[in-house]
Amino acid sequence: MNKELRPCVIAGNWKMNKNRLEAKALIEEMKPLVADASCEVVICVPYTNLETALELTKGTNIKVGAENCHFKKSGAYTGEISAEMLSEMGVEYVVIGHSERRQYFGETDQTVNLRTLAALEAGLKVIVCVGETLEQRELGYTETLLKFQTKMALTNVTADQLKNIVIAYEPVWAIGTGVTATADQADEGNGYVRAAVAEVYGKAVAETVTVQYGGSMNAGNCDELLSKINVDGGLIGGASLKAPDFATIVKAGSK
Ligand code: PGA
Repeated sequence: MNKELRPCVIAGNWKMNKNRLEAKALIEEMKPLVADASCEVVICVPYTNLETALELTKGTNIKVGAENCHFKKSGAYTGEISAEMLSEMGVEYVVIGHSERRQYFGETDQTVNLRTLAALEAGLKVIVCVGETLEQRELGYTETLLKFQTKMALTNVTADQLKNIVIAYEPVWAIGTGVTATADQADEGNGYVRAAVAEVYGKAVAETVTVQYGGSMNAGNCDELLSKINVDGGLIGGASLKAPDFATIVKAGSK
């Protein structure tokens, strides 16, 4: 982290977990544990939990995010949710381009870009995800791929809009697998992302962008990962479903 230049953002990504009752219990347990955080605390929850999360976090330091949004404002897109619908509710963040969406739901670099632009336009903050597969890493394409995905995601995003962007480097091979990137691998990946931002917006701007690491970050490894200069926070899946674990990561992000 380098908190003088950019804020630390610790975000939970609940994925398709927790019904409303479970969500309520988790948020209530979490609230006092993260209340004195000196980093940004976000929980990205299923659409069905947004209302609950917004209600329960009112007046607290916990921000609420969604896990995706569509790029059209409205229309005949059965089953989709627009960025405007989210911002109108009071949702502040949205995750875009998660590897699970790329892998299972036909998300492409183009649609990641469209969703990102739509979300920014609606006034949301975007956590845009990039990351290489194991095969791409083994072929030596990590840097090329991370730079490409980053630049594609940010196409037509202005330097001013970049203030509302957080980028999450999530190596696909580390997500939900229990295999964490080493702190050096995370720092290197995040560094490639920052370098890509620098190539488009200049080094000074790139230094102000929060780049998270995600992929099996947990209460045991968060301190080491967040000690790296380019790791400005975390996007946390599994460990965000347990209040004490998430709180430990928030504590590490608050140092
Ligand atoms: P994980 O998920 O922490 O369970 O690996 C991270 C993510 O997919 O955002």
